[in-house]
Amino acid sequence: MKLFLTGTILIVSLIIGSYFYDKKTNDELKESFSLNLKDWFNKGNYYIYKDIHKIFYIQEYLNDESNEHELPSIVLLHGFPTSSYDYHKLWNLLRQEKNIKSIITFDYLGYGFSDKPLNYEYSIFDMADMVDKILMKLNVQSVYLIAHDVGDTVAQELIRRDNLLNQNHFKILKLVLLNGGIFSDSYKPVITQEILRTKYLNKITSKYFFKHLFFKYSFSKVFGSLSPPTHVDLLDFFNSIRYNDGNLVLPLTIEYMNERTQYNDVWLDALNETMVPTLFIYGPADPINMRSKFPQKIRTELPNVKLNILSDLVGHYPQYEDAFTVFELIKNFF
Ligand SMILES: *[C@@H]1O[C@H](CO)[C@@H](O)[C@H](O)[C@H]1NC(C)=O
Repeated sequence: MKLFLTGTILIVSLIIGSYFYDKKTNDELKESFSLNLKDWFNKGNYYIYKDIHKIFYIQEYLNDESNEHELPSIVLLHGFPTSSYDYHKLWNLLRQEKNIKSIITFDYLGYGFSDKPLNYEYSIFDMADMVDKILMKLNVQSVYLIAHDVGDTVAQELIRRDNLLNQNHFKILKLVLLNGGIFSDSYKPVITQEILRTKYLNKITSKYFFKHLFFKYSFSKVFGSLSPPTHVDLLDFFNSIRYNDGNLVLPLTIEYMNERTQYNDVWLDALNETMVPTLFIYGPADPINMRSKFPQKIRTELPNVKLNILSDLVGHYPQYEDAFTVFELIKNFF
């Protein structure tokens, strides 16, 4: 009976969905980019990963390239399901920093303006490899790492490697984590995430029902009320996910959630054991990492991690919702 019901729902949604299906080329999508997003796109370059995959990255020099005294760079790791563009507000503030060689960010494979292959094993370990490869190619030796959401997990893996006699080709001087599910036992995924993890349903939903209207509704929920995303920003987030038919790849990229559960202890230990000074900046109005549990868990389970809690009105995207405060906190920490 249950099977029959599920089957019927799937078939009906397929029929309705294909009626609404609207595939868009990248050029069509670009027409509705805001000026900010166009700017972001134009600032970028491509790094070719594993000889075939194009990875979109941005590097901006704040100091002379040929500075003989090697200054650190700032590296920004973005979250799921969005892209490096999450950092565009913070980027403009970080550019004022002195004693920084460059600021670097990129879209992981499967995200933003990077390639989004459908026959690819997406994983946190692979994302950490991407960071290492890109920084090697950009000749970066030491970094201040700033991460958000799934980026936190990538940063934890990089810290784990750093703890092991530095298996990375660069040195992490300081680490800043923004809202991310570093405790898998207090993590509460939103319904869209659950759907994307449900076999069959995820493929249909991401192909036929990844609509601006639905996206707007579910994505807005993770923001606090201080500065909810504008209509323009929501469309930009949406379009950068859709770029390169990115909606189709969401059921694959979200697999990181399983890895996070599997390696939760290893990655927590890495944070607990590292000598790298770590700051966690937390927006408490976050339905995914709830305020009733999260700060307390940091204090008891990660006593070496410094915690800054933002205003009650800031949610899951602190770097977007309260960029200036986040910048001030980061500046003081560096
Ligand atoms: C981290 O280390 C502290 C002791 O310094 C310990 O109390 C805590 O349980 C550890 N956390 C984890 C996640 O193992």
